[in-house]
Amino acid sequence: MDHFNYRDGTLHAEEVPLSRIAAELGTPVYVYSAATLRRHFGLFREALDWTDHLVCFAVKSNSNLAVLKLLGDMGAGMDVVSGGEYLRARAAGVPGERIVFSGVGKTLAEMRLAIEGGIRQVNIESEPEMRALSGLATSMGAEVPVAIRVNPDVDAGTHEKIATGRSDNKFGIPIARARDVYAEAAGLPGLRVVGVDVHIGSQLTDLDPYRAAYAKVADLARALRADGHAISRLDLGGGLGIPYRRDNNAPPLPLEYGRVIRETVGDLGCEIEIEPGRNIVGNAGVLLAQVIYLKEGAGRDFLIVDAAMNDLLRPAMYGAHHDIVPLVEPRPGAGLRRVDVVGPICESGDTFQKGAELPVLGAGDLVAFRSAGAYGAVMASEYNSRPLVPEVLVSGDHFAVIRPRPTFEEMLARDSIPEWL
Ligand code: LLP
Repeated sequence: MDHFNYRDGTLHAEEVPLSRIAAELGTPVYVYSAATLRRHFGLFREALDWTDHLVCFAVKSNSNLAVLKLLGDMGAGMDVVSGGEYLRARAAGVPGERIVFSGVGKTLAEMRLAIEGGIRQVNIESEPEMRALSGLATSMGAEVPVAIRVNPDVDAGTHEKIATGRSDNKFGIPIARARDVYAEAAGLPGLRVVGVDVHIGSQLTDLDPYRAAYAKVADLARALRADGHAISRLDLGGGLGIPYRRDNNAPPLPLEYGRVIRETVGDLGCEIEIEPGRNIVGNAGVLLAQVIYLKEGAGRDFLIVDAAMNDLLRPAMYGAHHDIVPLVEPRPGAGLRRVDVVGPICESGDTFQKGAELPVLGAGDLVAFRSAGAYGAVMASEYNSRPLVPEVLVSGDHFAVIRPRPTFEEMLARDSIPEWL
């Protein structure tokens, strides 16, 4: 459930009409609902209330400081995958003790940043990284809590670009080799083994792959304990999917996901960490856009909007679907028109939906792309020299700009022409 609903015939975020935000700030613009963020984070907390846990928000899904601060103030931990994300989490007021550092290619400079600033746990993804971290920590006189990310060779049943738990993906250490790697880790200075980490993919709509992966993690944790390792934490990753269409079966709820965790690893008595991103912020955000033209093509019509693939990359990159709805509520029984919804960028891939059945719209009308809060603004660029899309946070009857649209002057000022040219 989210807080984007029609009221008095116009789409609102909580109590704010989205048309007001479009009028004040222009389009395209991302709009997030604070109440929805709080609600979704709360659902994960409830799902794990049977045990010691930390819900670490996957910063990659939406790294705006205001979003991180809102969640951090609710007690969220953060899952970061770069030095930049670490600094964002800290700047949002999240202490190092609540930050886990994931990612296959952490550089020495990034790991140094985290050790200096304080880190709850580094999730190691390979033997070379483990040795590098050991050397670094030792040189800094530090002892870093680590978990080793294992690759359970489970098919998450999701889009191939966002599946991470199969043996042919670049992620984690093959689970069959894990005991050897833990044995090496235990002998390395500067590292303190605290747990096991796994993440099998994103936008999972079925709990069975989780069940399979977590059962393997439970077996491994038992074997590691028998080998003498103190396994006190399990980081079970993120990935729980969201409904992108209002009209089909919704993926399982956090509560059901929590039950699978309890059934598979609950008896180990470990502290549980999870790293949800999309499920917390995806349906807490929309992208507002305005129709520029309705263009009649040969046999098909194009609704050209002022948002483009540089603002919301997911449809071009993954063929992802985002529901598109007009801000003015369609009258019951109003006619529909079949259109391709496209952006102004000079690529045919800049297409949001082909053959969409939408209420009749024309130049100046406003629309919202739903489910755009996760992997939306964070994947935006200035391709075609389009200003980076701004972001707004709504709470109740008020809103704030949490990232302004840059001016063209600001964009140009970032480049420089060498004096010898
Ligand atoms: N933990 C790790 C180690 C991850 O790699 C990811 C996502 C997450 C947690 C969070 O997954 P979530 O709960 O958000 O599904 N850009 C793609 C999604 C890429 C996900 C990458 N890793 C998209 O737009 O669908």
